[in-house]
Amino acid sequence: MQPADHLQNMSPSYIREILKAATAENVISLAGGLPAAEHFPMALLQQPLQQISQSPELFQYGATAGYQPLLDFCAEHYQLETGNSGLITTGSQQGLDLIARAFLNPGDGVAMEAPCYLGALQVFELAKAELFTVEQSDSGPDLVALEQLFAKGNIKIFYAVPDFHNPTGRVWPLAARQAVAKLCQRYKVGLIEDAPYRELRYHGDALPMVSSFCPEQAWILRSFSKIALPGIRLAFISGPQNWIDPLIKIKQASDLHSPIPLQALLLGLLKSSEFNNHLLKLREQYAERYQALSGALDKYLGDKISFQQVEGGMFLWLELNQKNDQPINTMKLAERALENNVAVVPGEVFYPVGQLSRPALRLNFSHASPQQLEIAIQRLVKAFDRQ
Ligand SMILES: Cc1ncc(COP(=O)(O)O)c(C=O)c1O
Repeated sequence: MQPADHLQNMSPSYIREILKAATAENVISLAGGLPAAEHFPMALLQQPLQQISQSPELFQYGATAGYQPLLDFCAEHYQLETGNSGLITTGSQQGLDLIARAFLNPGDGVAMEAPCYLGALQVFELAKAELFTVEQSDSGPDLVALEQLFAKGNIKIFYAVPDFHNPTGRVWPLAARQAVAKLCQRYKVGLIEDAPYRELRYHGDALPMVSSFCPEQAWILRSFSKIALPGIRLAFISGPQNWIDPLIKIKQASDLHSPIPLQALLLGLLKSSEFNNHLLKLREQYAERYQALSGALDKYLGDKISFQQVEGGMFLWLELNQKNDQPINTMKLAERALENNVAVVPGEVFYPVGQLSRPALRLNFSHASPQQLEIAIQRLVKAFDRQ
């Protein structure tokens, strides 16, 4: 039996392959986007787990939109705009898939930043959307290029990660947020504001969400993977009621609903008086890991690399300085790094196929300990030296 055409055309996932290799015992992985399991809020789960184990009704089939007490909590906690509603999905990844399946016809245009979150690329490719990218800098997405794209008229959705972008760690400044919201309104483009890292800010003040300037024109994806537990696979997606209802229809056909006992568990966790402390500690621990990584990069790789400091999230985008205009093959470099027992991701995999990129690596700093991060960079130096 042959799989459907769209599956055969799907490119192999470099990340999936490298993650497989990165699980070998002696490999230090800076490749995935994994949170630190040793900092999961296990103690806060005890009481809700106990309660859930005595509540058979939670193990019954439930409503597709989600466990109502969790929906109510999210609506209040995230202060949903009037006219907006939400649903619980099996991770933000499912939220993206539901939007694509409910709103995109083959050939519809989707704009995204380059480089871009791979999981989003995969979803929009599977939906047979036509993908367009705009460059990203410290000032946010290239607004001139974005407006030119929107003005052509075929762009239905703009997918963006304005806070601690994956893979670059960048944060859009306020002016870019306001300008993008205006463009989405002017050209009637739906914004997907994907915000899994927004609450992982280690320094400085949070900026308003882009969608707060165009609430009638945006979906917001809030994942609980990075601030709570990735394995429970839960996220909250909100937007205008008539942008959410079609997602519920597709979700019903897809999996009826996300597991209710896990939604009840998440609610217990979020309502715990200790959850805020957990978040504060998590931010401190990740900030310490980031310091360890950036310090080791400066110490061991100095003039071979450059990177923008990040104020949160889980990733650092490491640009590689070319010597005498000699091209750097980042795929080969990542292979050599793996031979030296450190896993990193070459920057080019974060671009749609065929798009060139400046040589760069994405480094994750949330998963390995500060000590491991230092060793990882010492190993990476060996891979650089063998170029
Ligand atoms: C930008 C971005 N969006 C969405 C996701 C998926 O998150 P979830 O675990 O909620 O499916 C990730 C995961 O790494 C991500 O980096």
